[in-house]
Amino acid sequence: MNVKDSEHIIAELSDEYEITQNPENADLILLNTCSVREKPVQKLFSELGALNKKNPNAKFGVCGCTASHMGKEIIKRAPFVSFVLGARNVSRIKEALNTPKAVITDLDYDETTYVFKNTRKNPYKDFINIMVGCDKKCSYCIVPKTRGKELSIPMDLIIGQIEKLAAEGVKEITLLGQNVNNYGKRFSVSHPKVDFTDLLREVSKIDGIERIRFTSPHPLHADDRFLEEFANNPKICKHIHFPLQSGSTKLLKAMRRGYSKEWFLNRCEIIRQIPDVSITTDIIVGFPGESEEDFEETMDVLEKVRFEQIFSFVYSPRPLTEAADMPNQVDKQVAKERLYRLQKRHAEILDEIAKNQIGKIYKVLIEEPGMGKSDNFFTVKIPQKDKYLGEIVDVKITNANKHTLSGEVVK
Ligand code: 5AD
Ligand code: SF4
Repeated sequence: MNVKDSEHIIAELSDEYEITQNPENADLILLNTCSVREKPVQKLFSELGALNKKNPNAKFGVCGCTASHMGKEIIKRAPFVSFVLGARNVSRIKEALNTPKAVITDLDYDETTYVFKNTRKNPYKDFINIMVGCDKKCSYCIVPKTRGKELSIPMDLIIGQIEKLAAEGVKEITLLGQNVNNYGKRFSVSHPKVDFTDLLREVSKIDGIERIRFTSPHPLHADDRFLEEFANNPKICKHIHFPLQSGSTKLLKAMRRGYSKEWFLNRCEIIRQIPDVSITTDIIVGFPGESEEDFEETMDVLEKVRFEQIFSFVYSPRPLTEAADMPNQVDKQVAKERLYRLQKRHAEILDEIAKNQIGKIYKVLIEEPGMGKSDNFFTVKIPQKDKYLGEIVDVKITNANKHTLSGEVVK
C-alpha cells in the first residue's frame, strides 16, 4: 500500500516535477514512511540527515504512516523539513507542497471518491486501492492510528477504473486494502449493500482482465462464500496472503485477532484443496506473554500449512498500541532466537517445496523480458528474452530453488 501511495504522489506531481535518481540534483525530496515497526522510524531521521547534507537546497517532505503519528514532531527534529503529509491525506500533496510548514495528518479525511492520476509502471498489470484505513484493533498494530477508520471505495469507481485499464491492455489487477475481504462494511456515500465476493464477481466480468489478485484478506473474514469464490472463479489467481501472526490461540486472543488456531488451520485445509494453490503469511514472534509452548504452536502451524512464503518479524512495541504497555514483554534475545528457528525451519520447507515444482506446468504472465509470475505467485524465468512479453503462457518447470523457478514455454 505504501508503494501505491508513493506512486499516487508521483502521479499527482507529474505536471510540475519529473523523477530523478540523483538526490543531489533534486528540487524536491519526498520520503514515504512506514511505522509498523520501530526500525523504519529511526531510519527516517538518519536518512533525512544524510539527504540534507547531500543537497541542502532541496525542499523536503515527509509522507506516510510515520508522518501521521509523529506530525509536527518531525519538523521539530528536522527543521529543514518543509511539510508533513499523513498516509490518509495522499491526495492533498499539492496543498502540502504549497503551504509553508504544512502538517496535514487528518485521520478523518475522506479521499475514497478522489480519482488519482494514472500511476501504472507495467503495461500489463496494475494495483488498485479498494478501501482506506483499518477498523481492527490488533493490539500490536499502529496502522489504525495512522490510516484511520476503514472506508470502502464505491464499487462503480473501482470498476470504472479497471475497465479503463483493461481498455489500455492491462491483464492483471491486484485489489489492495488492509482488510480486503471486509470490503463494503462502510462507505462515505450512499451505496448498495455489497461485499468483497460481490466485488470479485464484478471485476471478473470485465473483458480483458484475465487475472485478479488481492492483498491482504483477514483470516477472520475468510467465510465459506469468499473461499468458494476464490476456489471457483477462474480469473482469481490461486495465491492467498493469509496473515497468521501467531499459532497460539492464547496469543491470538491477546493480539485481538478474532480467530483461533483451529479456525486458521480449518480455513487453510479448505484452501489447500485447490490444486497448486499458494498460501503466504505474516508471523510475529516474541509478542508479550509468548511462552515456549506458544511459540511451538506457531511452529506447528508452519509444519501443517507449509507456507510458500513467510514474512516474519520480532515483535516491535509501537506507540499508541495496547500491547506496548503489556507487562509481560519477551526478552529480545529470546525472541530473536525464536525468529531464527522459525526462519531456519521454513528455509528447509522451501527447499522441499522447490523440489516438488519440477515438471509442473504453470500459467505465467510474462511481465518483463524473460520473466514473470505464475498464477500461484512464483517468480518464473524463461530463456526467451525477446518473446511472449505481455502474454500468459504455459511454462513447464525444469529448475527450481527457494526463490525462483525456471522452465520452458510449452504453449
Ligand atoms: N511488531 C512486529 N510486526 C508487526 N506487524 C504489525 N505490527 C507489528 C509490530 N508491532 C507485522 C504484522 C503485519 C505486517 C504487515 O507487519 O505481521 O501483518
Ligand atoms: Fe494492523 Fe490488524 Fe489492521 Fe492488519 S488488521 S492493519 S495488523 S490492525
